[in-house]
Amino acid sequence: MNILLTGGAGYIGSHAAVVLTEAGHEVVLLDNFSNSNKSVLKRIRKILGRSLPCIEADVRDTDIVERVLREYKIGAVIHFAGLKAVGESVANPISYYANNVQGSINLFQVMQKVGIKTLVFSSSATVYGEPKYLPFDEDHPKNPMNPYGRSKLQVEEILRDLADSDSEWKIACLRYFNPVGAHESGLIGEDPNGIPNNLMPYVAKAASGELPHLNIFGDDYETCDGTGERDYIHVMDLAEGHMAAISYLKNHAGFTCVNLGTGKPLSVMDLLNAFEKVIGKNLKKVVVQRRSGDLPCYYASVEQASIQLNGSAFRSIEIACRDIWKFQKADNFQ
Ligand code: NAD
Ligand code: UFG
Repeated sequence: MNILLTGGAGYIGSHAAVVLTEAGHEVVLLDNFSNSNKSVLKRIRKILGRSLPCIEADVRDTDIVERVLREYKIGAVIHFAGLKAVGESVANPISYYANNVQGSINLFQVMQKVGIKTLVFSSSATVYGEPKYLPFDEDHPKNPMNPYGRSKLQVEEILRDLADSDSEWKIACLRYFNPVGAHESGLIGEDPNGIPNNLMPYVAKAASGELPHLNIFGDDYETCDGTGERDYIHVMDLAEGHMAAISYLKNHAGFTCVNLGTGKPLSVMDLLNAFEKVIGKNLKKVVVQRRSGDLPCYYASVEQASIQLNGSAFRSIEIACRDIWKFQKADNFQ
């Protein structure tokens, strides 16, 4: 199938592009490069042995999106494009709603006009908010704690209404937990601009000496060792989840939401220990205050993913550490 990946040059989109192409799909990327580097295209080409078409455009530019959908005879869209930094969304909510909500509405309008009604949407575990119980299953109440999370939930609700209004739509919202790791080649991975917000890229940069030490945000939570616990899923397992979602939608109309995680919580210390084992040295770390807005622990129920997507995230945290370390050490941006 011909599949358009909006935000396809980003961290998750680039891995999905590789997985989908290797499975025989024809992939087209559309990205405005607001949070990615064009060199990713060369690196994808190196992995695949061929280049993928990439249109530099904003997903809100309906004329270009319509032209791309028609020209490339797109059969399904995976909508990754969006902004994702929680703190930035609190400081500048309008740009989050403009990008994540308005961008999505524009895309869905064009898809409807052209008659393309198969969609996978990048949602987030952040839609659940504070746990009433764990693991989070898909029916857990939704109470996102910041504009980023609310923008994701709003798009999910729009999509539910869209599917209710027209039985031809086939829609899967995938709620990602904490994506980590990189492609095993070390050619593509996560390389945030500036100082990373997230744990794994921060650890990788601290290990390479780019950052002096790792701050551990609190060790007095009621968790196994006092540090925060999350559900870290290897980005290649996540990418494979998108392929499974596309296959699922072939035979299933309507609307579904599915968690993509491992179902197992790991603490900050668990992740650090795994990383130190991979690189063979201890990292400098300093315990600092809890980060405002952080939850002590959450993780996914993966029952629905295993029923609907035959899903199993099988790559271990050690593999994720090995792969991101390979990416961190490589000279990818020359
Ligand atoms: P990313 O920033 O690496 O990728 C997003 C891509 O979208 C970037 O290449 C960016 O340039 C592009 N983009 C942003 N706004 C655009 C626009 N208006 N038009 C065209 N392109 C645009 O992020 P990612 O980690 O790959 O995340 C992909 C999606 O998954 C996002 O929607 C994000 O909210 C969601 N998500 C990510 C995580 C995570 O921890 N990485 C967790 C849950 C959900
Ligand atoms: N942490 C540290 N030091 C750091 C960074 C993080 O100790 O330098 C800790 C955090 O306190 C937390 C854990 O590591 O306990 C994971 O933190 P991340 O920032 O990597 O991930 P979060 O779970 O806070 O948030 C991520 C994304 C959100 C998304 C959410 C969905 O950043 O955008 O997962 O589950 F919404």
